[in-house]
Amino acid sequence: MSSPSSAALPPGAQRIGVSLPAGSYEVLVGPNLLPAAAELILARLGRAKCAIVTDDNVAARHLPVLEARLRTLGLYAGSVVLAPGETSKSFAALAPLCERLLALGLERRDLVLALGGGVIGDLAGFAASILRRGIRYVQVPTTLLAQVDSAVGGKTAINTAQGKNLIGSFHQPSLVIADTTSLATLPPRIFRAGYVEAAKYALLADAGYFDWLEQNCALICAQDAAALCRAITIAVAGKAGIVARDERETGERMLLNLGHTFGHALEAWAGYCDRLLHGEAVAIGICLAFRLSQELGLVTRESSLRVAAHFAALELPTAIGDIAGPTRPEVERLLGLMRQDKKITDGRLTLILVRGIGRAFATRDIAEDRLRAFLAGELAAAP
Ligand SMILES: NC(=O)c1ccc[n+]([C@@H]2O[C@H](COP(=O)([O-])OP(=O)(O)OC[C@H]3O[C@@H](n4cnc5c(N)ncnc54)[C@H](O)[C@@H]3O)[C@@H](O)[C@H]2O)c1
Ligand SMILES: [Zn+2]
Repeated sequence: MSSPSSAALPPGAQRIGVSLPAGSYEVLVGPNLLPAAAELILARLGRAKCAIVTDDNVAARHLPVLEARLRTLGLYAGSVVLAPGETSKSFAALAPLCERLLALGLERRDLVLALGGGVIGDLAGFAASILRRGIRYVQVPTTLLAQVDSAVGGKTAINTAQGKNLIGSFHQPSLVIADTTSLATLPPRIFRAGYVEAAKYALLADAGYFDWLEQNCALICAQDAAALCRAITIAVAGKAGIVARDERETGERMLLNLGHTFGHALEAWAGYCDRLLHGEAVAIGICLAFRLSQELGLVTRESSLRVAAHFAALELPTAIGDIAGPTRPEVERLLGLMRQDKKITDGRLTLILVRGIGRAFATRDIAEDRLRAFLAGELAAAP
C-alpha cells in the first residue's frame, strides 16, 4: 500500500461520503484528480487489477494519463474503448464488454474503472454488477451530468427496444473520482445539458443552492475551478443524502425524477438524438412541472417564471416550442410515452410537482384529463 500522504487529496479537492447499510464510499471532487487517480485508488481500495472502460471521445483526451499512472503502479490490466453514444448502452455492447473484461483476467476483488459520461458509467457499472456475480467498480465521470448525478447512487442500466434503462441493477461504486478539469474538453452544449441536473437538485430540495446558482452560473459555465467544484459538491452531497435515506427509490429518491417524466417522453419522441439532449429535455420537463404546479395553484407564477428565466439565460430550452426542428409532438403521443414511465403503478402515473423552489413532492393524484388539457395548452403556445 502506498503511504497515506502519497494519496492525499490534491489542492482544492473535496470529499463527500455516501453512507449506505451495505457500506460507504467516497466521492472525490476537484481539479486535476485524473493524474492522481491511480494513487487515490491504490490508497483507498488496495492493490487490484484495474480495467478501464471508456469511449472513443474520452479515450482521445483522457485515457493516456490514467493508463500511464496505473501502469507505473503495476495496477493496469487493460482498456476497452467503445463507440460513443447511447447505442453502447445495449445488450449488443454488453456481451462483448463482459467477455473482454473476463479475458483481461479480472477477478472478484479487481476493479472496473468507468471513465466517461453517464453512458459509460451506466454500462460499465452494469457489467461490473453481473461479472462473477458482482465485482467492484470505480466511477471516473467526465461529463458534468455524470459528475453531479449519474456517477453517484449506484443505478446501472442498459436500454432495450422497449425503452431506456429497463434492464439494470443497483450496484454502488467503491469510489467516485470526479476531476473537474476533465470537463474542459466537453462541448459547451453537453456541459450546459449536464448543468440542468445540478439545477434540478436545487429546485427539488435546496432553495439556497438555487439562489447561489443564479448568482454563479456564469462562473460555473466559464468553468471557474472554485465555482464548478462547489456546484458539483453541493449537488453530490444532496444526492448522497437522498440515496442514503432511500437507496432503492421507494420514496424520497423519486424526487430526483423532477422534470423526468415529461423529459423522458420528449426525448423518446425526439428519438434520443442530438435534436434534444437528455439535460435539455429535463430543462423543459422541469419548466412543465412548475407550470403545471402553477395551474394547480401550488406554486406562484413568479417562481415558474424565475426557473424558466434561469434556464433561458443559459440558452437552455424551457418549452416544447423551443425544440429545434419543424415537427411538434401530438398530445396523445406524449401521454402514451409518459405512461411508459418506470414510476407507473396500477396504471397511475407518479408526477413530481412543486410547492415552491426547493419544495418538490410526488403525487399520483393528477387525473389524465387534467394532464391532457395542460399539454394541449403548452402545445398551443408552441410556435
Ligand atoms: N445512473 C443514473 O443514476 C443516471 C442518472 C442520469 C443519467 N443517466 C444516464 O446517463 C446518460 C447520459 O450521460 P451523459 O450526458 O454524460 O452522456 P454521454 O456519456 O453520452 O456523454 C456525452 C458525450 O460527451 C462525450 N464526452 C464525455 N466526456 C467527455 C469529455 N470530458 N470531453 C469530451 N467529450 C466527452 C461522450 O463521448 C459523449 O459523446 C444517459 O444514458 C442517462 O440515462 C444515468
Ligand atoms: Zn436525468
